[in-house]
Amino acid sequence: MTAITAGTAAPLVSGAAGTHTGRRALRAAASRVLLANWTGASTVPSHTLYPHQWSWDSAFIAVGLSRLSPRRAQRELETLLGAQWADGRIPHIVFNPAVPHEAYFPSPDFWRSSTAGAAAGAPRDIETSGIVQPPVHALAARLVHESDPKTSRRRGFLERVYPRLAAWHGYLHANRDLGGGGLASVLHPWEPGMDNSPCWDRPLERIDPAPATSFRRADLAHGDAADRPTDLDYGRYVRLATDYRDRGYTDAGDPHGFVVEDPGFNAFLIVSEHALAAIALTLGQDPEPHRERARALTTALVARLWHPEAGLFLCHDLRTGTPIDEKSVTGLLPLLVPDLPGDVVEALLRTACGEHFGLGSSPTALAPSYDLRGRSFDSSRYWRGPAWFNINWAVERGLRQHGALAGADGLRHAILTSAGASGFAEYVDPRTGRARGTTDFSWTAAVVLDLLARTEEREEGMDR
Ligand code: SER
Repeated sequence: MTAITAGTAAPLVSGAAGTHTGRRALRAAASRVLLANWTGASTVPSHTLYPHQWSWDSAFIAVGLSRLSPRRAQRELETLLGAQWADGRIPHIVFNPAVPHEAYFPSPDFWRSSTAGAAAGAPRDIETSGIVQPPVHALAARLVHESDPKTSRRRGFLERVYPRLAAWHGYLHANRDLGGGGLASVLHPWEPGMDNSPCWDRPLERIDPAPATSFRRADLAHGDAADRPTDLDYGRYVRLATDYRDRGYTDAGDPHGFVVEDPGFNAFLIVSEHALAAIALTLGQDPEPHRERARALTTALVARLWHPEAGLFLCHDLRTGTPIDEKSVTGLLPLLVPDLPGDVVEALLRTACGEHFGLGSSPTALAPSYDLRGRSFDSSRYWRGPAWFNINWAVERGLRQHGALAGADGLRHAILTSAGASGFAEYVDPRTGRARGTTDFSWTAAVVLDLLARTEEREEGMDR
């Protein structure tokens, strides 16, 4: 086995993820992370770097929490959905009023959701951001339900969340198809979740950065500057968020400075639409509208973002009407989609295992966030190369779904080994496994708990 160099945290397991003792230790350690990051109604991604509730983090966290406490997992999602806007959007941050403003930037007084977002339907009594994150939530709700259907039924979990999840997808469908081709678009680099991916470099060049003196970053107090986005990128994030806020968080009308169709965001939407169909069926409602929407989204995804010559899906810049010629792991995430054409699946599998992403090249190889051969590859900096555990969890599901079982098994083992050895790092150097960002990171622990449970279910012949 290739050695993984531990970063800031002591190794918890070293190549032991396959043994019963190793798995028990890993489960206990991952559980400790989620228990420590629980704040009473939801989970912080990290007490230091991200001390509020984040939208897509909560979806992954709920999947892992369901292996510890199904009730808590349900609560996680319901707390998030409690901050949903009347237009259906799920904000990317729900602020905890007990946390001082200086702890995180941009803080509630920047977003001013309850006033600036009033016309769009922001809640009056909870402060949130105004942008969104990838729609992983319906998938998470389905998995949370399936982890303990009895408790879920007793608590009426699906009845409560289904209308809200349907409204969330309705928002994306009605307000975010800004390209008119049937896909949801994103309006800020934080919306697809991969904040400073090299995919955004060109679209961001057009954005006039907010002056560095107009804001104070809080993230650098908790993370190494070399692992985080640059000040120039931050200035542009702030400009885009300010402009959106000052337009009352409206999606139609004025052209947005940044407007992109992202394959990963849409892949999660498709999988979540399929999950809504399954939820509707469980509730005795008609699944067909969700199936129809999933079919239409899948057709649009392939028609608009598939690039056979690149061997993966590419982002599409709606301002210029051109594809963004960068290989990002977002372009592999459509592996999650069940009904892709066979030639697309084959090409994606080849790309995943080829020189750009290197899956299977060693027993601990994780998919990097960006092309290992790309000119902008950086093994440390946020989404410009490091491997992320939630993304690798999604790739593992995609590989398994399309029958690449040896690859999926290998990746599962790599995720478990690397997550434990890095102290549940936020992300790791994909070449060395060295921890980057912060440690004790909630979604890293969550995907470990889920994959350990799935491994056991499979051994017992009941893998879902
Ligand atoms: N991920 C972004 C941050 O670093 C925005 O949610 O704060």
